Amino acid sequence: SAEVRVGLLGLGTVGTGVVSIISRHQEELRHQVGCPVTIKKVLVRDKAKPRPVDVDETMVTEHIDEILTDEHIDIVIEVMGGVESTKEHLLKALRNGKHVVTANKDLMALHGAELLRVASENGCDLYYEASVAGGIPILRSLVDGLAADRITKMMGIVNGTTNYILTKMTQEGSSYEEVLKQAQLLGFAESDPTADVEGLDAARKMAILATLGFSMNVSLDDVVVRGISSVTKSDLDYCDQLGYTMKLIGLAKRDDGRVEVSVEPTLLPKEHPLASVHNEYNAVYVYGEAVGETMFYGPGAGSLPTATAVVSDLVSVMKNMRLGVSGRIVQGPLHERILKRDNE
Ligand code: NAP
Ligand code: HSE
Repeated sequence: SAEVRVGLLGLGTVGTGVVSIISRHQEELRHQVGCPVTIKKVLVRDKAKPRPVDVDETMVTEHIDEILTDEHIDIVIEVMGGVESTKEHLLKALRNGKHVVTANKDLMALHGAELLRVASENGCDLYYEASVAGGIPILRSLVDGLAADRITKMMGIVNGTTNYILTKMTQEGSSYEEVLKQAQLLGFAESDPTADVEGLDAARKMAILATLGFSMNVSLDDVVVRGISSVTKSDLDYCDQLGYTMKLIGLAKRDDGRVEVSVEPTLLPKEHPLASVHNEYNAVYVYGEAVGETMFYGPGAGSLPTATAVVSDLVSVMKNMRLGVSGRIVQGPLHERILKRDNE
């Protein structure tokens, strides 16, 4: 085809960022993939809602099947959220031969292996870089950049909302409720922010990181989780007086085949590099036997940073389409091993 045609599921914080990047960076995208990228249809819940980006209203639909069964759509971008019904929709998209890019860690942490298997069976790509740490290309780094190494430990801040809350409570003395509301207005929080503040969102991301980093299927049930909802201003003041900063830290380590994954509020000495990761920013240390210590840092949530990861996945999918290798090399050796294990 002379263009790559995209169906976009969702036009909220991330979806508007995707529309904006595709429209603003059309030249860069064309240069990389050799043809124009066009958004053909956009799914929303409520067509009457005002939108911060310019989208032709004839493209907007409230009926998902108009996208999933449209033979003129090559790639489906899922940025609407949801788990069980969304899984069924994406399975349908894949079985209809559409490549999928998603930002949905809830879905990938629970059903990633099944979705990847169906993608592969149908010769389709399934990419999900934006599901962990927003704009930081951490999944690519694990699967490709550190492919030669044996990763032993990953540790860091992988939830923007809770880091924003802890930062503002510590630095500005704001109340928990007040800053949570700000994080929601800024589009960092999940539609139900319980997942953020109770550590579940970070746990899902740690399960995905551990699955890829350790090349084994680590499920959400394997993650020990504690959130920050009961942390008070006086707890943070007390930490501060003692020379510590509280952060919600995700940790995944393996030793002699034993894997431990946790998400917990943790006291860090103020001079620790993770103590100076503020607001919605995330940072992840990855330790490899050969490489030693590496650190990845960047915006962990928000419209344009997250959309950058989504659209970069779109570019990868388009390059695979051009090379005729869709659904084959993209998941890399790590995913293939997971798929094999799952099929046994
Ligand atoms: P959001 O602002 O709430 O947007 C969701 C969009 O999807 C809205 O446009 C909504 O339509 C549409 N939608 C939701 N359910 C729908 C349904 N059943 N049928 C039709 N349309 C539906 O969410 P978001 O913050 O962009 O997050 C989207 C996904 O990206 C989630 O999986 C989230 O975990 C993930 N993510 C978000 C961030 C971030 O910083 N926000 C970062 C990384 C990953 P209406 O607009 O009509 O309500
Ligand atoms: N709610 C998530 C966060 C969005 O705050 O980190 C990015 O995944």
